[in-house]
Order: sequence, then C-alpha cells, then structure tokens
Amino acid sequence: MNFASNASATPKLTPNVGLANRNTFGLDASAEFAHEITSPDQIGAIMEVITEQKLPWRVLGGGSNVILPKVLPGATLLMNITGQEIVSSDEHATVIAVGGGVNWHEFVSWTLEHNLPGLENLALIPGTVGAAPIQNIGAYGVEIADYIDHIEAFDTKTQAFVTLSKEACQFAYRDSYFKQNPHRFIVTRVVFKIPKQWQARVHYADLAKQFAANSNPSAEKIFVAVCKIRTNKLPDPKIIGNAGSFFQNPIVPHEQYETLLQKHPTLVSYPDAPGKRKLAAGWIIDQCGFKGQRMGAVGVYENQALVLVNHGGGTAGDILGLAKCIQDTVRKEFGVSLVIEPNIL
Ligand code: EPU
Repeated sequence: MNFASNASATPKLTPNVGLANRNTFGLDASAEFAHEITSPDQIGAIMEVITEQKLPWRVLGGGSNVILPKVLPGATLLMNITGQEIVSSDEHATVIAVGGGVNWHEFVSWTLEHNLPGLENLALIPGTVGAAPIQNIGAYGVEIADYIDHIEAFDTKTQAFVTLSKEACQFAYRDSYFKQNPHRFIVTRVVFKIPKQWQARVHYADLAKQFAANSNPSAEKIFVAVCKIRTNKLPDPKIIGNAGSFFQNPIVPHEQYETLLQKHPTLVSYPDAPGKRKLAAGWIIDQCGFKGQRMGAVGVYENQALVLVNHGGGTAGDILGLAKCIQDTVRKEFGVSLVIEPNIL
C-alpha cells in the first residue's frame, strides 16, 4: 500500500483502499479514502482536511469488531501508532504507556515476558490496544478497565488532545465514554497500571475446569489455558471470518430472570448490579436451535452460538439478516432483546 506522506505539507487522503485484510469478518470492503496514522501529531492536520471536505470519518484498528459495507464512505483512519514503554515502577505498580495501534494479544504476551502479570485472562482477544477500552474488552472474569490508569486521545470536538482518567472513561460492561460518544475521540495511547500484587483469577467455569486441582496457577499457565479455551471455542478469523461475540449478554430485571428460570431451569446467568441478572446470550441462541446453522454464506458457529461467521463471500447485509432472524426468534421465545456487539459501519 502506498500511503500519502505525512510530512509537514497538508496530508492527502488515499482513495480506494482495500480493507479485506483489515476486518476479521473477511468482508470484501474498501475505504473511499484512507489515511494511515503512525503518530499522534498527524491527527490534527488530517482532521482539518476531513472537516474541510465535510467527510464522514472513523478510525479502524484491527477491524476485529466491525461490520463493513462494500464501500466505506468518507475517510477511514488506519490506526498504526505503535510502541510500548514502562513509564514508572514502584513497589505498588508498574505503569506502561502503549500506542493505540499495538496488537492487543502481542501486548499481553509482552507484559508476561516482562514479568508483569495481570492481563493473562485477556489473552488472544483480537484487535488493537486503542480499540480495547472503547468496548471495555473482557474475558474470564477480567475487564481491561481494571488495569487502566488513563487514556490519551484526540478530541475532535475541541480539536485538542485530552487525557481521560479511568473514572472519566466511565467503563461498564462492554461500554465506555468513548462508545457513548461515537465519532468524537481518537485513542492514541493507553496507559496501564499493573499492580505488583497479583492473584490468579480462575473462577470462571471454563478456567476453573482447567485448574480443578490447582487453585493458584501461575500467570503463564493461565495465559496458556485461556489461549487453549479460546482456540477451541472461537473460530480463527484467518480461517473463518468472525468478530467474536456477536451479541452482548443481555442484562434483565431480577423478576424477568425469575420468570425465565421457571420456564427454563437450566438457564445460564451471572450476578450483575443489584436487582439485575446477566443472561448468557450464547446459551439462549443455542436453545433456539441456531448453533451450526447456515443462512447462505453466513452462519452461527458450530462451537459457540454467540459467534456469527462468514463462510466466504458473505456481505454485511447477509450478516445483519441472520442477526435479525436470531433477534426475532429470541424475542419471541425468551422475551429478551439482543444487542449487537460489533460496530456496524
Ligand atoms: N453456551 C451454550 N451454548 C453456546 C454458547 C454458550 O450453552 O453455544 C453457554 C456456555 O456453556 C456457558 C455460557 O453459555 O455456560 C456462557 O458461554 P461462554 O462461557 O462461552 O461465554 P459467553 O458469555 O458466551 C463471554 C464474552 C466473551 C468472553 C467469554 C469468556 C460477551 C458478549 N462475551 O462470552 O467475549 O471471551 O465470556 O469470558 O460478554 C467477545 O466479546 O468477543 C468475546 C468473545
């Protein structure tokens, strides 16, 4: 790919850039215009161009949580800010600053290589470090929010760089201030605070099973186990296109949960905020008979009903058609509305 230079002259947008390798759903898509961002200081100038030309825009990281149309109109900023450094370290914690374009899993591996355990439960989650806080990625009882100190971002509303404390990020289940304010922030650096005190977290059913005889395994052992579980349960996007969990696990009022439990005694659920219960959407979709089903080029993954897959040649329309069919059935059978997790661009 030959991107326009980002030197001090006005930056140029590159027309018609293929995105087939930039989305894990394997959708045949291209950007009307694209621009690669390798350093935060390129952002101001390119945003001026985008504003001047009144183009719609968005940032694309690893493309692991998006559904792309055939042509993505306007400007697509390809986030490639790399680099990671230990900023400080004392007896309590290590602070690490990481570029938004760094691959998430490579960063998790790096922390373990540097004897900084904490993120091992989040191994093998696809995508970039900059995208991770937007939907507050989580797995096996850990969320990225637990480890964030602050985030550096470009605020397109004020055209200035801002630093958001962890509190200002308003993290919640698969949610954040960034997600609540779409098309506003460009995350450039994520600063993590990894406490020196470490404890194994293997309480989630899948991990607990692996460590039945050892309740205090090392971080490396957990990392390996998480990789194994994810590899077995979730399709490898290099082989079958997918974006991980396609729906959020719905959170319902306790009364609704009690009613559902009477009707479906094996309903899988987790405690949530007081008066609420989080239901396993994968279990519900499985009960509705969708697991392994195909609808043309797309389908529901055979080992995990929460994951929709593109068997090859599927389009955004095909995926959303299947999603609607699942949502309608689940609403009819369970009275629950499923919210799509990936961003529909
Ligand atoms: N289940 C079924 N059938 C299925 C799928 C799941 O019965 O086809 C049951 C499982 O047996 C289990 C329960 O449903 O009892 C939950 O399944 P699982 O433990 O696989 O986790 P999940 O709720 O489907 C969530 C996250 C995943 C994360 C795992 C592990 C969401 C939307 N998804 O999945 O995150 O890896 O927990 O912590 O919260 C992602 O966001 O892309 C993602 C993969």
